[in-house]
Amino acid sequence: MSNSESSVVSSVTPEQISFFHENGFLALDPITTPDEIAWMRESYDRIFSQRAGREEGNQFDLGGTDEEGKEATLPQILNPAKYAPELNDGLYLKNAQAIARQLLNPNAGGGVAHAIFKPAGIGAPTPWHQDEAYWDPQWQYYNVSFWMPLQEATIENGCLWFVPKSHYWEILPHRSIGNDPRIHGLELAVDNAEQVTKSAVPCPLKPGGVTIHLNRTLHYSGPNKTDIARRALILGYGVANSPYPAPRNFSWNDIKMTPRQERAQSSQSK
Ligand code: NI
Repeated sequence: MSNSESSVVSSVTPEQISFFHENGFLALDPITTPDEIAWMRESYDRIFSQRAGREEGNQFDLGGTDEEGKEATLPQILNPAKYAPELNDGLYLKNAQAIARQLLNPNAGGGVAHAIFKPAGIGAPTPWHQDEAYWDPQWQYYNVSFWMPLQEATIENGCLWFVPKSHYWEILPHRSIGNDPRIHGLELAVDNAEQVTKSAVPCPLKPGGVTIHLNRTLHYSGPNKTDIARRALILGYGVANSPYPAPRNFSWNDIKMTPRQERAQSSQSK
């Protein structure tokens, strides 16, 4: 193990585990080395500049209507390791998995899930949401997301904010951003959002640091007001889903009609 590897976070303390379960989130120092972050950043920039996954619906604008030729203000790539296989092999994954197993369950599995790019100057906010609101309502989840910036994450460039203890809440009403069903991204749709989010705390991070949050923890990130792009890689870990004990419906997903879904369908029918 090199010196730089020995200073990398590869486990969490009992105090951090307690904080996580009490508050629904946790922020950690880098889980990988500066060298690894440097090559990951190259891979990341390559697949965004190649518009990897666009045709099959795996790259799209999370925050806009995603029409061809329109500049994306919040581009996202699902399963980025499909287009940059080197992302499947890194110290960051080894450490994230070990930490996820400490936090959730010794059998928790997962890996590279998606990449969200917040362009310099024009990068849009990611509105308040609970991740579970995106998913199939018939299942009960016990999942975490690791959010890892490939440069510093600050309040000015769009670090994450969390509402402590919101992981104890049910799924609140959501809708597509701006109530436009052509938009993939969701936002909280409650009248008292300011009240609901007033205890939120920002989590600035070093490059390669992570925040970890549960599937119901309410979170947000601001616009990128800086002149440097904000790159974030999100890793999902969880235990096997079980059937949700009661019928429930996420109507906001049923009425979505995004260009991304159309591209995915036409690419499958080819
Ligand atoms: Ni989220």
